[in-house]
Amino acid sequence: MDSTSLEVLVKNVSKVSFASDIRPLFRSVDIEHMKGMEILLDDYKYMSDATNGYQNAQRVYDSLTGKTEPRMPPNGPYWSKGKLDLFESWMKGGCQP
Ligand code: HEM
Repeated sequence: MDSTSLEVLVKNVSKVSFASDIRPLFRSVDIEHMKGMEILLDDYKYMSDATNGYQNAQRVYDSLTGKTEPRMPPNGPYWSKGKLDLFESWMKGGCQP
């Protein structure tokens, strides 16, 4: 098990934090490229927007898992299950800051 999966087990879902746990998962190349398409990966307000059922966070998650195509980041490296689970836990915890 990698350290990120361990982190998911240890952490209570409601304690997953955008600033400490989620924001660091994005590389600057991810943030810069997606900013050009008005997808603000480093912006808590954008990522936690509760209108339309947290659609911004959900769309980002779906792009990372490959549920929507092209899977992000284009041509990888795709996120490990540990990182995807952490992001999912963050959403389940209500997108805490
Ligand atoms: C709502 C979610 C997202 C949508 C709809 C989306 C869509 C796209 C599209 C259409 C492109 C251009 C693809 C191409 O030129 O082949 C792109 C580029 C890119 N995306 Fe996303 N993306 C999303 C989220 C993400 C996330 C979460 C990451 C990283 C964790 C990411 C990283 C990148 C990078 C690095 C590029 C530039 C690739 C390159 O030009 O080399 N994107 N995205």
